[in-house]
Parts: sequence; structure tokens; C-alpha cells
Amino acid sequence: MNVAQPIEWTSQGVVMLDQRRLPGEVIHHIYTDYRDVAAAIKDMVIRGAPAIGVAAAMGVALGVERSNIATVDELRDKFPSICRTIAETRPTAVDLFWAIERMKRRFEQLVSAGASLENIRRAMVEEARAVHAEKRATDEAIGRFGAELMPGAGKVMTQCNAGALATAGIGTALGVIRVAVEQGRKLHVLVPETRPYLQGARLTAWELHEGGVPLTLITDNMVGHFMKTGTVSAVVVGADRIAANGDTANKIGTYQIAVLAHEHGVPFYVAAPVSTFDLTIASGEQIPIEERSAEEVTHLRGVRIAPDVAVANPGFDVTPARLITAIVCERGVARAPYAESLRRLAESMSTATHGLGR
Ligand code: MRU
Repeated sequence: MNVAQPIEWTSQGVVMLDQRRLPGEVIHHIYTDYRDVAAAIKDMVIRGAPAIGVAAAMGVALGVERSNIATVDELRDKFPSICRTIAETRPTAVDLFWAIERMKRRFEQLVSAGASLENIRRAMVEEARAVHAEKRATDEAIGRFGAELMPGAGKVMTQCNAGALATAGIGTALGVIRVAVEQGRKLHVLVPETRPYLQGARLTAWELHEGGVPLTLITDNMVGHFMKTGTVSAVVVGADRIAANGDTANKIGTYQIAVLAHEHGVPFYVAAPVSTFDLTIASGEQIPIEERSAEEVTHLRGVRIAPDVAVANPGFDVTPARLITAIVCERGVARAPYAESLRRLAESMSTATHGLGR
């Protein structure tokens, strides 16, 4: 399977594949100003929780590397506003805040160790690149753990895009499918289009097709039909934020798929890195849900398809933990009770904990 890379640190700046234009056009932008990286996250040039985290880390590094200042003291004064600008982009995916916190910790270490301006700049770029490299390794481990849960043959449903485009690695949910297919499992992916932003139709269908994985694109309102007619063996989705009790925020539409999977006895798996766990919140009720523009609902590619009426457009919903069969991360597989299994995985240090919570 080919892997489309959504973001890269280069000597010219941060290069991003413009996901708003896919699948029609493959266009890259080069960013040299952290404020433009923030705008790119907000405008969905890059999207998907782990990829947003990588972009946030690179945005902070760019702010440090390229800001027009002459001393460490000046940089220390400016640093909080760089982090704030990156943080005020999208509220739901906790990877964004995880990455900013990590960059802040590294910055504080360097400053308190008395590092020079030049060394701080270099080390912050290295930290952002390390975040990217770790995300790749994380996806590979999630893929290995998750593939074991996939059937030997059958139809697997996903939602939105939790592939390479969304993670800067091989993907989480699609990484699981990718590894399972490489192992010889005969999977066929059912891809709901994921209205209103169409990440399923535009991005997942494109990624799977490019990678040679068999798929069928369906509209969101066909999910019940396919569950009822018994053609779905499993569901695997990504996550934007997982609360301490296992409640999981993911793209709008995920919750209704989980309810239908439960009704029809289909296992429902979440694949996400530990950086997506938010153990500071007890349940999904505390997850902030991004409200997006009315135009995404009333218009399709600039063409009005609905009258000028009141519109709701929550970008995410929360699937209660009781509907989730297992949560796969890079350190193993968590099962209920999640308060226990997620905490143990978050505290463990390596993939040696395979099987925890089973
Ligand atoms: O609004 P988006 O496209 O950023 O939403 C993406 C999703 O909901 C993904 O499923 C989630 O971030 C997991 S990506 C591995």
C-alpha cells in the first residue's frame, strides 16, 4: 500500500499536502511562519488527530527557529504566544495540546539548562522531528496489535479518515487494516462517505484505492442496511480524544455506527495512540466538540444544496465506552473496564505490555 505523506519538515520549511483539494488535485504548500501553520490546521489543509499533533509540534518549532529575535530572553517572552496561536486552532483532538505541551517541556528544559539561542532553535526542530518519527513507529505498533483483531476474511467498516493522511505514519484504523492485509487477511473495506466534509469519500476511498485495498464507498445512511444484512465483520475507527473511562470522541457519525454495531453483534474497535488518551477527564461529557461552519452542510464544493435555514454542524460525537469492544494503542489492547486498562497502558513504557486488559 502506498502511503501518502501529509507533512514533512524540510530545510525550506514545513511542507504539507493540501487535503482540502484531494482527491482531485495533489498540491503541496511550504510554510515558513508558525501563524500560517496554525491557519493550515484551522482550515484543514492538514487534519486527523495525530497529524494535527505533528503539525502543532512543527509549528512551534518553526516559531522558535524562524522568529526574528536576538536573545534567549526575547524568545522566552515570545514563546507563550507561539504556543497559544497553535493551540487556538481546533479544540477536540487532544494530540494538538499533547504536542504543544511536549514542545513546552523541551523548551523549558533547554532554557533552564542555559542553552544558547542557536542550540534552542536546533533542539526544538529536532524535538518536532522526533514527534513525527515516533508517530510513524506508533502507527506500526498499533497496526500489529490491531491486525490480530481483524477477521481472516470479511468486510470491515471504518469512518472518516484515520489513515496515513490523518497520522503522518501508516494510519491508525487504516494502519490496522493495512497490516492485516499485508498478513494475508482478505479484507474489504466499507467506507461511509462521512458527510459533511466527506473525509471518507475524498480521503479514505482515495488512500485505499491508491494502496490497492478493495473497498466499497457507501453513503452514511446505508450503514444500518449493511449491518442488518450481515455483511460487516468488524468496525475499526480512529479517535480524537479518549476519556479516562473509555468514552471516545471521533468524527461525527461514529456514534451511530457504534450503536448499530452493538445492535447487530458486530465488534467495534478504536485504534489510537496513547497521546489521544485524555486521562485528566473522567468521561466523554467533558470533551469539547468543535462546531463547524453552516456552509459545510448547506453547500457542496461551493454550490448551495439547501435553503438558508438554521444549521447544526458538530464535527465530532462521543461513543460511550460500553459500545466499544476494545481500544488498540501502540502498547497493546485495552478492554473494559477501561478506567483500569487505559491507565495501565498509559503508565506502561513499551509494547512489551501486549495483551494488557484482555
Ligand atoms: O475533522 P478531522 O478530519 O480532523 O477529523 C478526523 C477524525 O475524526 C479522525 O477519525 C481522527 O482524528 C483519528 S485520525 C487517526
